[in-house]
Amino acid sequence: MSSQSSAGSGAGSRVKRLMAPDIAAKKGREPIVSLTAYHAHTAAIADAHCDFLLVGDSLGMVMHGYETTVPVPLELMIMHGRAVVRGAKRALVVVDMPFGTYEESPSIAFRNAARVMKETDCGAVKLEGGRRMAETIRYLVDRGIPVMAHIGLTPQSINVIGGFKAQGREEAQWAAIEEDARLVAEAGAFSVVLEAMAEPLAARITGAIPIPTIGIGASAACDVQILVMEDMLGLSPRVPKFVKEFGAVGAAIERAICGYAQEVRARTFPATEHTYAMRDAHQGGVDGAGEPGRATKKPKKASS
Ligand code: KIV
Repeated sequence: MSSQSSAGSGAGSRVKRLMAPDIAAKKGREPIVSLTAYHAHTAAIADAHCDFLLVGDSLGMVMHGYETTVPVPLELMIMHGRAVVRGAKRALVVVDMPFGTYEESPSIAFRNAARVMKETDCGAVKLEGGRRMAETIRYLVDRGIPVMAHIGLTPQSINVIGGFKAQGREEAQWAAIEEDARLVAEAGAFSVVLEAMAEPLAARITGAIPIPTIGIGASAACDVQILVMEDMLGLSPRVPKFVKEFGAVGAAIERAICGYAQEVRARTFPATEHTYAMRDAHQGGVDGAGEPGRATKKPKKASS
């Protein structure tokens, strides 16, 4: 059985994993919570609090140091997608299709999206674009691949747009963006990201289409909120205006690394409790048990 439909070891511990239709069905009910996730461990933590986790191509920028998402290869998405599916047991995992892997034709999009689904075991893919991607969305959905659409600011088109600019701040832009939202919904997308969008437009779209709108910089009017995890944790050096930092993880990492470096230089780390003693021939028995100087705090990590 796919780990996207159930997860956990042993019949008693199985957790039902949310699927794309579960997310779609939440529209108009309680707010839906999501974050990006790129590692197994952070995915496991977020899993308890989020309805879905997005393995977004922003990982290229926040983890791999690219200036934009354009250079991100499919293989990187698959590698991080696998890690997140391993870490999260309940949340739907959605993996972004990176630039250049789906725009050319519906059949190329299907080939790459099917690869993502098979190799990561995720439950859906996301792709950027409104009307221009409607035919592809229909093609993928008809062939068994749930699709999350993404309109408004579409960072993969940064070189055409000319910067990370908020969308729909002038009413003259609204009709085209509303049409994008309507067409991706009609094509069968189960949800749509609205990125960096003026609040009144996001509210109109949310009220007009039957699928959940996922806001990132698109106001509380949206059905779902998503943020890039590294941004909201306080781990990214620069964040867009719409990000609230809920943590100061970057500062905590800096403090920890600084403390480590100081102790190594002062020769106070490693201390006796972090050091393996010789086996005591008189005590015999299990390796390490009762030895003075053997680390006992985290036995699962110790090896003989
Ligand atoms: O890649 C990403 O993180 C995204 C979010 C901005 C929705 O697409």
